[in-house]
Amino acid sequence: MLNQDVERILVSEEELDRTVTRIAAEIDRDYKDAEHLVLLCILKGSIVFMGDLMKRITVPVEIDCMKVSSYGAGTVTSGRVNIMLDLVRADLGECDILIIEDIIDSGRTLSYLVDYLKLKGARSVKTCTLLDKPSRRVVEFTPDYVGIEIPDEFVVGYGLDFAERYRALPYVGVLKPCVYEK
Ligand code: PRP
Repeated sequence: MLNQDVERILVSEEELDRTVTRIAAEIDRDYKDAEHLVLLCILKGSIVFMGDLMKRITVPVEIDCMKVSSYGAGTVTSGRVNIMLDLVRADLGECDILIIEDIIDSGRTLSYLVDYLKLKGARSVKTCTLLDKPSRRVVEFTPDYVGIEIPDEFVVGYGLDFAERYRALPYVGVLKPCVYEK
C-alpha cells in the first residue's frame, strides 16, 4: 500500500530491480581485471542501493563508507560539503574507488568527493548514482554509471529521506508537497 505522504510512485520496485541489475552488469564488465575494487557507500541515502548493488556484482569487491552532508534538515541545499565520516585506508593508493550515491542534484557532493579522493591518493575514482536530476546541476558533473534520470521532484524512499523519514520505503515516490511545505 502507498504511504499516505507519497503522491505517486516514480520508480517501482520492479524498475529498481532491473536498473540495479543492469548497473551491476556494467560494473562487472568494466572492472573484470581490477585487483582492488572498493565500493564506497555515501551514507546515509545510498545504503539501500549499495546493499542491492553489491549482491549483484560478481567481481571481487571490498566495501567502505563515508558520510558527507550538504543539506540542512529540509529541502534547501547549503552549498557546502562537510565530511562527517572520513575514509581511512592505508592502501588507498592501490584502490579503485567506485563512489556509490543514491542521487545527484547540484553535483556538489560528487564533484567534491572525486577531487578529495584523488588528492588523498586513490588509484582511480569513478562514480555511480541510482538517480540523477540533471536539471538541478550547479556544478558540471557527469557520473560514470547512472540508473535513472528523473525530473525535479521531491523524491523519497529506497534510502532517500525527508527529515530522516521514508528511507525504508521499497520504491522511489514523489512526496506530497503539503508534507514539506508545512
Ligand atoms: C544527498 C545525496 C547526495 C547529495 C546529492 O545526501 O545522498 O549525497 O545529497 O546532492 P548534491 O548533488 O546537490 O550534492 P544528503 O546530504 O541529503 O544526506 P543523506 O544521504 O544522509 O540523506
